[in-house]
Amino acid sequence: MYFVKGKTRIVIVLQEWGIVIKLAKIRLWPVLRHIKRILRHPSDTLEYIRIERRTKWWYWSSSIKQPLLAGLMENWCEFRFYRKTRLKILQPTFFSVGLFNIQKYAEPLDPNTEGFWVQLIRIVSWSRIGFDHHHFSNPANFAIAENKLVALDYGNPRTTKILFRCGDKIHDQFDPSKIIPAR
Ligand SMILES: Nc1ncnc2c1ncn2[C@@H]1O[C@H](COP(=O)(O)OP(=O)(O)O)[C@@H](O)[C@H]1O
Ligand SMILES: [Mg+2]
Repeated sequence: MYFVKGKTRIVIVLQEWGIVIKLAKIRLWPVLRHIKRILRHPSDTLEYIRIERRTKWWYWSSSIKQPLLAGLMENWCEFRFYRKTRLKILQPTFFSVGLFNIQKYAEPLDPNTEGFWVQLIRIVSWSRIGFDHHHFSNPANFAIAENKLVALDYGNPRTTKILFRCGDKIHDQFDPSKIIPAR
């Protein structure tokens, strides 16, 4: 068993059981810092609300929502997207209660794998995939299972949009023998 720190989740890898558990990160510290800033500069905050008055409260409070809820939302979206589409490119997510997900284990690609991103944009053009290139250019978000590329991290709506359109094509055409493992 070992732990991996993701952007919004902490992943407990239970390789011997063939599963991982993704725990949503709930980051209190940035929220407390934000509240402290509001309390220190109440007039700035009121001015901001006045200018942005048409903006919904939840949007304004994204600096609170993001650190508290991003992991929970990604977990739930990942599970729902898998359950609804069952795309071949998705590493199966078996279960979710938001706070944690259970997903099938596959050994992630090393982030320094060479030839990964180049092959992806050859299969699906930059114009389709470029607006989420941070995600897709990081091989650690993917794995090779049964000699096919699978996605491990698909909780973000930007990512699911691309996978929904191009996931089958990527899964069918990606050739694992053309990537070079990190030395
Ligand atoms: N199904 C899985 N099997 C093995 N390792 C995984 C699996 N899912 C995630 N990981 C590892 O955990 C890391 C973080 O998981 P990820 O789903 O990307 O979380 P986050 O959305 O928080 O970035 C991945 O980069 C990968 O190394
Ligand atoms: Mg990730």
